[in-house]
This record gives sequence, structure tokens and C-alpha cells, in this order.
Amino acid sequence: MHDLRVHFPTRSALFAGPAPVVRAVDGVTSSVARGETLGVVGESGCGKSTMGRAVLQLLRPTAGFVRFDGLELTDLWRKRFGRYVWSETLRELRQRMQMIFQDPYASLNPRMTVEQLVAEPLRTFDVASGEALHKRVEQLLERVGMDPRYRKR
Ligand SMILES: Nc1ncnc2c1ncn2[C@@H]1O[C@H](COP(=O)(O)OP(=O)(O)O)[C@@H](O)[C@H]1O
Ligand SMILES: [Mg+2]
Repeated sequence: MHDLRVHFPTRSALFAGPAPVVRAVDGVTSSVARGETLGVVGESGCGKSTMGRAVLQLLRPTAGFVRFDGLELTDLWRKRFGRYVWSETLRELRQRMQMIFQDPYASLNPRMTVEQLVAEPLRTFDVASGEALHKRVEQLLERVGMDPRYRKR
């Protein structure tokens, strides 16, 4: 990422003037090579999560660049009906760049079974369907040391 910025507009109060902005991320430059890990440390509210979201393009950076595997991610947005949306390329990249939430309840819907949860992304990206999908879920559970009987829980 190069000079990455995310500024959030705030509602201006009665006495209008220019609405103040929260500079949640304000000019971050860094790079991570394959196999490397980058730790980001800072007090609560300093912008760590916002930076992560901007790197993944879960929110559109105000300025700056994020390059992944030679692709300029910030160029992969399209404007549709006046709003920025992900291009198909960016959507496809979701298989290779994603967030792992600290709190599992933020990513795992407790009303879904283990099988539904594991199958969902495979369905979304047309990796498998029907019996092949069922089999794939079973294999994945085995691979991480979970009893396939947990599927229905
Ligand atoms: N969607 C948003 N709209 C407005 N302000 C936001 C939004 N998301 C985060 N912020 C603000 O940006 C700053 C950084 O937040 P955050 O990235 O969550 O910090 P951290 O993860 O380091 O605790 C905070 O002041 C937060 O209130
Ligand atoms: Mg955070």
C-alpha cells in the first residue's frame, strides 16, 4: 500500500462551515512479501481495522494505492448508478484476500449449521455444488481435524 488514506466525513453541526473529517487512516505506506506477516499495533480507535478494510477494498480508500499480485486494487471499482461497487475482478480476488475476524460470531452465523457455513463460499464462487459440494465440505472438516459428524450441528 502506498500513501493509503481513509477519511470519514462527519455531520457538521448547526454552524456550518466545512464538515470536519475523521482522518482514520492518513498516509500509510507499507509492503508485505509472500509468507511475511505484518503486525499493526496501536490504541483503540487509531485506525487499524479501517486500514485493514481499505487494504481489502471492503471500503473504498479516499486516496492512495493498494497493489496485490501486480494488480492495482483501487482501480477495480466501478461506478454504478452513482455508487462505487466492486468489479468482477475484485469479487474474484475475494477468494485470495480476506478478513479473519477476532470474534467468530462476527463471521459465523449461529443459526447456520457447520455444513452451511463451510459450503457458503464454495457455492458463492461456484467451486462445487450438489454431491461434490457435500463431499468437499466433509474433506475440509477432516483436513482441519473436525469430525465430519459435526456437519449438522
Ligand atoms: N464507518 C465509519 N464512519 C465514521 N467513522 C468511522 C467509521 N469507521 C471507523 N471510524 C472512525 O475511525 C477511527 C478509527 O477506527 P478503527 O479503524 O475502528 O480503529 P481501531 O481498529 O484501531 O480500533 C475511529 O475514530 C472511528 O470512530
Ligand atoms: Mg479494530
